[in-house]
Amino acid sequence: MQLNNLRRLLIDEVQELYFSETLLEQSLPRMAQGADAADLKNAFQKHHEQTKAHIERLDQACSLLAVSPRGGHGFAIKAMIREVEDRLGEGGDPHVIDAMLLAAARRVEHWEIATYSTLQLYATALDQDKVAELFSQTLAEELETEKTLANMAAQVHGEAKQPAH
Ligand SMILES: [Fe+2]
Ligand SMILES: [Fe+2]
Repeated sequence: MQLNNLRRLLIDEVQELYFSETLLEQSLPRMAQGADAADLKNAFQKHHEQTKAHIERLDQACSLLAVSPRGGHGFAIKAMIREVEDRLGEGGDPHVIDAMLLAAARRVEHWEIATYSTLQLYATALDQDKVAELFSQTLAEELETEKTLANMAAQVHGEAKQPAH
């Protein structure tokens, strides 16, 4: 589909996000299972529940825009998830794996924050205020999650630098 106007670009990006959030919803339980630190495990479990709501809101946004949520490819998220799952599969020291999971999750959150904040601006520019509000609700949860993860960094990195036993 040619990108002939901002509305078309918004729809394209929403469909990408929908596919991406669906992949994340499947991956977060595996990340929670792979995490050793209880705080990290809890953060992934909590964000898994929030991610279900993110998918729901994208569905609502598509209804408001009168388009299907399907059609995205999730290229960026697929690559990020593949990296995590390959590394989880290779195994290693649980504390170092926690550091890897933390970094991977933060990369995803930053991608989502950039994407939702851009889409919120597109929707506002297109006078789609209800759609913009849905993006803003999800954006707040992505920002909160990133903050929670960032606050764990010192603890997780401190454990990861100890020699393997
Ligand atoms: Fe999300
Ligand atoms: Fe997220």
